[in-house]
Amino acid sequence: MTKLGVNVDHVATVREARKTQYPDPVTAAAIAELAGADGIIVHLREDRRHIQDRDLEILRKTVETKLNLEMAATQDMIKIALDIKPDMITLVPERREELTTEGGLEVGLNLEAFKKYVHLLQEAELVVSLFIDPDLDQVKAAHRVGADYIEIHTGRYSEARSRAQVEEEFTKILNAVKMAEKLGLGINAGHGLNYRNVTRIAAIREIEELNIGHSIIARAVLVGLEQAVREMKELIR
Ligand code: PXP
Repeated sequence: MTKLGVNVDHVATVREARKTQYPDPVTAAAIAELAGADGIIVHLREDRRHIQDRDLEILRKTVETKLNLEMAATQDMIKIALDIKPDMITLVPERREELTTEGGLEVGLNLEAFKKYVHLLQEAELVVSLFIDPDLDQVKAAHRVGADYIEIHTGRYSEARSRAQVEEEFTKILNAVKMAEKLGLGINAGHGLNYRNVTRIAAIREIEELNIGHSIIARAVLVGLEQAVREMKELIR
């Protein structure tokens, strides 16, 4: 069965809105795990707008499943990753002005830099995933720089409105999955997935894990986090 990684960034977004101590993403991670999450994901952004260093440090000690750290490929973040040693590092592009991660990495345009970062992290026995658009050239580039996994950006699929657009984006994801499988890459996917659009993606056998944040945390505000995670697990199943 496809696994569910729950991204708890937006629990921290609510906390940071008032600079209080609550709600704590660490508590949210524990509840998500109790409800069946297969992993916990956090994005430590350079501007620290939601997750803080303290969250990451405690989560490293408390997460019982798998901790996946999303981060930009910068010297400072690499240092933190080598220190914390999460179970997986997902490298993502990051721009300060964006509301959320917008596009995938341009791995093909920066082969040497990515080769260096991937190697550095793997030398410390970290598993490295690259967040990329469902684009065959990016999949091949991820393979060339030695990534263990790719995470396919499902944002365009999630935002597509017309049936034709949805089909076009879904086909791109399928083609990227096929290419990644052929090259022996591990495959995750995520971004923008919600209770209405997840089942088609969850049915793609080769995808190991879906990384979902906003829709689960948003639903949790209304129905509680445990129920929100259980409902998503059930849809994926
Ligand atoms: N995967 C990556 C690489 C992301 O950057 C994000 C957003 O932080 C997600 C998955 C989760 O996206 P969403 O919050 O839209 O579910």
